[in-house]
Amino acid sequence: MPHYGDEWKKIYDEVLNLSRSIFKTDGEVLLLPTAGSQAIEASVVNLVSPKAKVLVGVNGFFGERVLKIARAHGREVVVLEKDYGDVILAEDLEKILMKNEDIEAALMIYSETSTGVLNPIKTYGKILRERDILFIVDAISAYGGVELRMDEWEVDYCVGYPSKALGGLPGVIPVAISKRAWRMIDERGWSPQAWFLDFKVWKECIEEWGPWGHPYPTTMPTHTVIALREALRRVLEEGLENVYRRHRLIASAFRRAVKTMGLKLIAPEDHASPTVTAIRIPQDFSGKLREVMLKKFDVMIAGGLGRLAGKIVRVGHMGYTAAERYISITIAAMAYALRELGFRADFFKALRAFYEALGH
Ligand SMILES: Cc1ncc(COP(=O)(O)O)c(C=O)c1O
Repeated sequence: MPHYGDEWKKIYDEVLNLSRSIFKTDGEVLLLPTAGSQAIEASVVNLVSPKAKVLVGVNGFFGERVLKIARAHGREVVVLEKDYGDVILAEDLEKILMKNEDIEAALMIYSETSTGVLNPIKTYGKILRERDILFIVDAISAYGGVELRMDEWEVDYCVGYPSKALGGLPGVIPVAISKRAWRMIDERGWSPQAWFLDFKVWKECIEEWGPWGHPYPTTMPTHTVIALREALRRVLEEGLENVYRRHRLIASAFRRAVKTMGLKLIAPEDHASPTVTAIRIPQDFSGKLREVMLKKFDVMIAGGLGRLAGKIVRVGHMGYTAAERYISITIAAMAYALRELGFRADFFKALRAFYEALGH
């Protein structure tokens, strides 16, 4: 499949439209053939002027990454910092903005994959808009699994993801840009120190090369875009509300089972992400727990990142794994592994809690 031409144009346009309906935006969507981190980097490069002050919300490893990205580009950063596992509330945002009146953009994480905290980004938009601050959101582990309403929530730039909750393949990152952000790019009186990441370059391609099916500056990995189309179609066929409900239900039932096993969660219940759960593991056993689960049950879960390395495990219940048959096995494997390591984890009680929460 060539990455241009009439046949390709139809596919590409369909993918943009499907992506748009998950972002819930009338704005522009681009597919960046890269990793999520570079899609975040693109927001700094394009939307944060070199002399501007930018606010970064940090309550986990991925917030810290955004901070590193902003600093790597020499931007002056105001950090809204909370402990790993704490939530960034609208009032935290308001407080820090009152002390810093010259902030031009705010970069926030929606689902903090390192802690399983879902930051209440829908409560941030109004506060930022009132102060004319551009609102940039990393929705990487939420996209396609957690409610997202970019336009309604006044988000100006939002990073989605193909291979987490959407259940597709990695390789192209859907990003959405609000009309306001495009205008700002059009009117900005400075040039980013980038070419590939400069959205003005992309805009020229949309205008000049779009008609023959090449609305981007470089080669597009067509097979990866077709895989993204499949993932988007599946999610939209199931229905966004159904998909979001499935994620919420499986996640809360899983958290119940985990608590029944006597373990503690990192995220508070009322701000827990529907796609990922981080669990505190006592006595540095997280590596061993993961090893037993993988070797004996073929169940792969993740460890902690950054400050939480060695202290937690993380379970993804996103995309097709947000399902009874995957998570029941995960609970069984986890309870078995905990017993092997000398903890009293009641396998039956945990599964009963899970099924009861699912309404069985
Ligand atoms: C919230 C969040 N932000 C950023 C990233 C980085 O994405 P990538 O590894 O594609 O650069 C991840 C990856 O897990 C993530 O979960």
